[in-house]
Amino acid sequence: MGIAVRGLGDPDRLMPAVEQLARRHVHYGVLPEHYETVRAASPWTLERGLRDAFTAEVCDASPEVYHLLAAVMKNAAYACAASDAAYGPRSGTAGRFTASLQLRPGL
Ligand code: HEM
Repeated sequence: MGIAVRGLGDPDRLMPAVEQLARRHVHYGVLPEHYETVRAASPWTLERGLRDAFTAEVCDASPEVYHLLAAVMKNAAYACAASDAAYGPRSGTAGRFTASLQLRPGL
């Protein structure tokens, strides 16, 4: 999450890394619905992981950052899973994706 926050200023570098992270998560056995479970647990996890660094500002910003990351990851990992299986993993999708992404609950 910290890497993501620092990377928000440079999305051209952040997005490909997040997409690769998403594909690794498929190999960890993560399914789309698990993102909701982790979302619900994330304030608890962040508070214990960050301790004093878990400021009110971080607390306020974290749902939005998680929502963005989860949307990017799910899109990268599952939206085109069938075509990936047929043609291999895509590359260079970050620009198109960030241009077309519409954030919406449940994506
Ligand atoms: C915004 C969402 C998420 C982020 C930013 C994130 C980030 C990470 C990172 C950085 C790692 C370290 C390994 C690597 O780089 O491949 C990791 C590992 C892992 N994550 Fe996530 N994750 C997210 C969501 C999830 C969800 C929804 C699950 C499902 C329960 C999950 C399960 C795992 C598992 C099983 C590992 C491997 C742990 C290990 O083998 O030590 N993650 N995650």
